[in-house]
Amino acid sequence: MSLSNEDNSNQGQTYQVWDKPIRVFHWLNLLLVLSLIFVGLIMLFKREIGITSLEAKIGLKELHVVIGYIFAANLFIRILWGFLGDRFAKFSSNMPKIAEIKKYKAALRKGDNPQYLGHNPVGKLAVVIIMLTLVIIMLTGLIRAGTDIYYPPFGGVITEFIAADGVDAASIKPYDETGVDKAKLAEVKPYKSIAGTVHLYLVYFLLLLIVLHVVGVILAELKHQPGIISAMFSGKKRLEGTPLDK
Ligand code: HEM
Repeated sequence: MSLSNEDNSNQGQTYQVWDKPIRVFHWLNLLLVLSLIFVGLIMLFKREIGITSLEAKIGLKELHVVIGYIFAANLFIRILWGFLGDRFAKFSSNMPKIAEIKKYKAALRKGDNPQYLGHNPVGKLAVVIIMLTLVIIMLTGLIRAGTDIYYPPFGGVITEFIAADGVDAASIKPYDETGVDKAKLAEVKPYKSIAGTVHLYLVYFLLLLIVLHVVGVILAELKHQPGIISAMFSGKKRLEGTPLDK
């Protein structure tokens, strides 16, 4: 267990909580999500900002997808770490429980200030919702990348499927129907469309989650849990009193 108490002064104790993989994932994820939102917004408003050529439109999608791969790899490693990492990284110790959330809220209402080494019960709920949203955004993004611009991991299967008889699938280009069996392309369209719609609406939902997350963390830092923001940089939390999850 990664609890290393460094100091027993009356200002509390310092505990090692977030390990390096967790911190690297968190800040890299933030950077990648912001970059994906930025490129995604340019894609959404391309006409308004004067981007009209097909090459530029495809180029933007390719850029978004390449950043998306790094985002997906980072998320994949975090998911693995959720099974292999230490206690604070493990999903099994971060599952939200309604009874704990109710108890935590009641304690706050009573004026108590329960302290936690890991996430507090509301934080656990937030993390699960954010992670699930990111996973579905990643999956729908990969499906859209395969069905729209024929990028891996699904693009190869799609071009094989839509290639007309006798046409080499590798010769098929996005937004170009040369060599394409139109009936088969029409069969792919509903999947492409559903993936695109879910992707976009979950991104709107993610924007809301990001605002709630940032506001929630700042309020917790100011009101009950000073040091939680710096802990995501240093990995260490300084707590007064005994944490409930020690
Ligand atoms: C949190 C991560 C992500 C965010 C915030 C995000 C954001 C966006 C936004 C705002 C759009 C514009 C919507 C539209 O044009 O309909 C978009 C489209 C798209 N995204 Fe993502 N995305 C993310 C992850 C990914 C990933 C991991 C991939 C695949 C590797 C991906 C692939 C695509 C594709 C192919 C489109 C083009 C849809 C189209 O216009 O045809 N995205 N994304």
